[in-house]
Amino acid sequence: GLPERVSIYEVGPRDGLQNEKTIVPPSDKAEFVTRLADAGLRTIETTSFVHPKWVPQLADAEELLDVLPRSPELRYPVLVPNERGLDRALANGVTEVAVFGSATESFARRNLNRSVDESIGMFAPVVERARAQGLWVRAYVSMAFGDPWEGDVPIEQVVSVASRLMELGCSQLSIGDTIGVGTAGHVTALIEAMTAAGIGVDRLAVHFHDTYGQALANTLAALRAGVTVVDASAGGIGGCPYAESATGNLATEDLVWMLNGLGVDTGVDLGKLVETSRWMAGRLGRPSPSRVVQALSPE
Ligand code: HMG
Ligand code: MG
Repeated sequence: GLPERVSIYEVGPRDGLQNEKTIVPPSDKAEFVTRLADAGLRTIETTSFVHPKWVPQLADAEELLDVLPRSPELRYPVLVPNERGLDRALANGVTEVAVFGSATESFARRNLNRSVDESIGMFAPVVERARAQGLWVRAYVSMAFGDPWEGDVPIEQVVSVASRLMELGCSQLSIGDTIGVGTAGHVTALIEAMTAAGIGVDRLAVHFHDTYGQALANTLAALRAGVTVVDASAGGIGGCPYAESATGNLATEDLVWMLNGLGVDTGVDLGKLVETSRWMAGRLGRPSPSRVVQALSPE
């Protein structure tokens, strides 16, 4: 069966813009977030409190949060890698944060300058302090299917890192196919293994990249396994700057098109969303890679 409703966790402003060459000014980012909210998205990952030299595209995190319109029905999670990031987030009124671990040593080293063990050690006080302050905490596990330096990533290895992240006290785990190599059978097997390890589908989200054209098929497999939270990026922008060939998040429009066809409710107005992505494509100076945005755009 399929769920009646899917919650879309929009990552365009963070995962999308962090990997675009063009640095978008905070006023345009604020307009982007506002338009996404107006299109019906309720959870929008807005930025990262990481080292500005590592991700210059998001160096304006403070400025952006300062100008974002707040509303009790909108959730704006942000990425925080360490206590310095948490301090910055707390100083800016953030109530939802995400730590981001890696299933592989190679990516942990490149993305966080730490081993897997060291990065979990770095997250521990972040999660503890965030929870003590009443924040909601998500954990990502990246390279959950394959890794550009290590190849196939064994399911047990992913589940082991995921379990350690969840044991820190996180509320949700997003399974990241950072380089988009996963296929549907692998998705089903990984979710079954997570469930067997005590991380139930009610605490799982999926984060697919469309590099090999598998993102929608993988999403459908995850929905059939009981997952109801799906990460997507408006217009399909972005990827990850520290992962070779990690182009193309699942486009939110492609996801909404499929879910509309299946009769699964998302609360998203597809027309408004497409308009927003076309506007952002103009700002970025390149067409949206989303097939649905292309199909619904006049010549
Ligand atoms: P490091 O160089 O090891 O940092 O980087 P450090 O702890 O040694 O500190 C060095 C200096 O940086 C210090 O300053 C710190 O204060 C400062 P100094 O004392 O020398 O003047 N510093 C900071 N400044 C501002 N904000 C901070 C911060 N932290 C330290 N938060 C670090 C370690 C984790 C900071 C770095 O590696 C980093 O920022 N990494 C982030 C990389 C990133 O954002 N990658 C993209 C997101 S992951 C992703 O996209 C995957 C995902 O989408 C899921 C998927 O697709 O699979 C989530
Ligand atoms: Mg990503």
